[in-house]
Amino acid sequence: MKMNKIFIACDSTNIQRIKEIIKKSNTSKLKIGYKFGLEFLSSKNGRKFVSKLKNQITFGDYKFSDIPNTCASAIKAIKDLKFNYCTMHISSGLEALKAAKKASARTKLVGVTILTSLDNKALKEIGFNKDVKKLVYQQAKLANKAKLDAIVCSAQEVKIVRKVFKKEIITPGIRFDSKLNDQKRVLTPKQAYKNGSDWLVIGRPITIGNIKNNIQTLINHLN
Ligand code: C5P
Repeated sequence: MKMNKIFIACDSTNIQRIKEIIKKSNTSKLKIGYKFGLEFLSSKNGRKFVSKLKNQITFGDYKFSDIPNTCASAIKAIKDLKFNYCTMHISSGLEALKAAKKASARTKLVGVTILTSLDNKALKEIGFNKDVKKLVYQQAKLANKAKLDAIVCSAQEVKIVRKVFKKEIITPGIRFDSKLNDQKRVLTPKQAYKNGSDWLVIGRPITIGNIKNNIQTLINHLN
């Protein structure tokens, strides 16, 4: 049976908390990977913890965005952590994406499109004159050109991305209810898979409150 795949966002600076998330989210009903982002990886013991983690699918959500040489060098600098996935912003440009892809070796390089916390109004404020859907489509084409291994976008744009990108699509901005926090472009887990997401990224809806119950709620929702 094909299992639903989820990356749990381990967003904390507290090692005990991260251990608790990993322990309590363990289930045979889902394929689970663990995503470590800027908060944990910037914390005092975060890097060391990841370096010792064994037998897990790991995702280094660094969201690198810099000139080609710096992106490639940063990716080489984390090679020892043996992440299965690592992110960079597609807005870094084609040359940086190609350089990073070359450096990433066995780690899958994931291109991040427009953040799920942004909407059309926010894009206009930044100075973009295309809307979210057009920009994400354009960035997906660029990711394809750079031969990236996966894309991060909102679940609302999966069908658009799929037109030009045939590899893995990973979608954050997943919500069971109306509690959006800082996210703008959200969908439920069921809708996200229906649209064709390969992996969902879920943080607070699982990690805040009773983790075991939240995992069970997710499993029930998907059945
Ligand atoms: O708690 P929540 O479910 O909103 O967590 C989403 C996670 O996905 C966070 O760790 C966030 O950094 C990450 N993310 C995102 N939107 C993107 C890329 C990554 O929310 N476009």
